[in-house]
Amino acid sequence: MVERMGRKGLSDWTGRGVLVTGGSSGIGEALARRLGREGARVALVARREAELERVADEIHRAGGQAHVVACDLAEPKAAFEAGVEAERLLAPTGVEVLVNNAGYGGHRRLLEWPLEDVERMTAVNYLASVAITKAVLPGMVRRRSGWIVFIASVAGKVATPLEAPYAASKAAVLAFAEALSCEVEGQGVHVLSVCPGVIDTPFFGPDDLAQMPAVARRGMVAVDGLVERVLQALCHRRWFFSKNSWKNLISLSK
Ligand SMILES: NC(=O)c1ccc[n+]([C@@H]2O[C@H](COP(=O)([O-])OP(=O)(O)OC[C@H]3O[C@@H](n4cnc5c(N)ncnc54)[C@H](OP(=O)(O)O)[C@@H]3O)[C@@H](O)[C@H]2O)c1
Repeated sequence: MVERMGRKGLSDWTGRGVLVTGGSSGIGEALARRLGREGARVALVARREAELERVADEIHRAGGQAHVVACDLAEPKAAFEAGVEAERLLAPTGVEVLVNNAGYGGHRRLLEWPLEDVERMTAVNYLASVAITKAVLPGMVRRRSGWIVFIASVAGKVATPLEAPYAASKAAVLAFAEALSCEVEGQGVHVLSVCPGVIDTPFFGPDDLAQMPAVARRGMVAVDGLVERVLQALCHRRWFFSKNSWKNLISLSK
């Protein structure tokens, strides 16, 4: 297995155990469906069980394998347990690839942002990634093989107005991913950080779209385009890729 993944990058997804958080919608759903088609065995984590079942059914109908783990990732202990459950469901390989993707944002001034929501958003966007990583990393280190993907945001790299708490949660994800990478690369675990710009998903509700500058709306990227870039980055063992446009900077770690 180390040989197949090895130093050459991840290109063969057949039979691979993959855990995708936020698999009920948007980027996570598109990634899970694509990986299912590529032959991976996917565990989907999010809150809305019915939506997870819908995605899992579609993966099954396309000939793939998928498991559902319903969980509110705002609670770090529950996030850890979801990682443990996915490790069990994806036996015998366990979680070979973890995609920390679940998250949400918002657009408002800090003084209008309830502290409780800042706390919850930090837990979902950042702490849940730490908790799930802690749950699956021991297996990866034991096997000396694994990939951990963090879907952060361009907001974690450049100042984005009306998004201060969201931007901070994504900056935390990026700092964590880079430091973790130094720690685990020597143990066979590769870390990839992804900083999408503006991707066409339900992340943007009608109010967000109404407020969005026309230039950003025009720069919106289809979700399948991002998924393809992530797969390519894993295939080429990338840490960093950056397309330097403020409206669509997609950087794939260092
Ligand atoms: N779309 C963009 O332009 C863009 C740009 C930069 C970064 N991103 C990042 O990409 C990631 C995916 O976003 P998206 O665009 O695909 O948005 P989305 O369609 O709204 O998907 C968000 C996913 O996160 C899950 N989630 C949210 N809160 C959760 C919680 N408390 N517990 C468990 N799961 C939770 C949602 O599932 P449930 O509702 O079922 O729980 C859903 O599956 C996010 O981290 C986002 O910050 C998106």
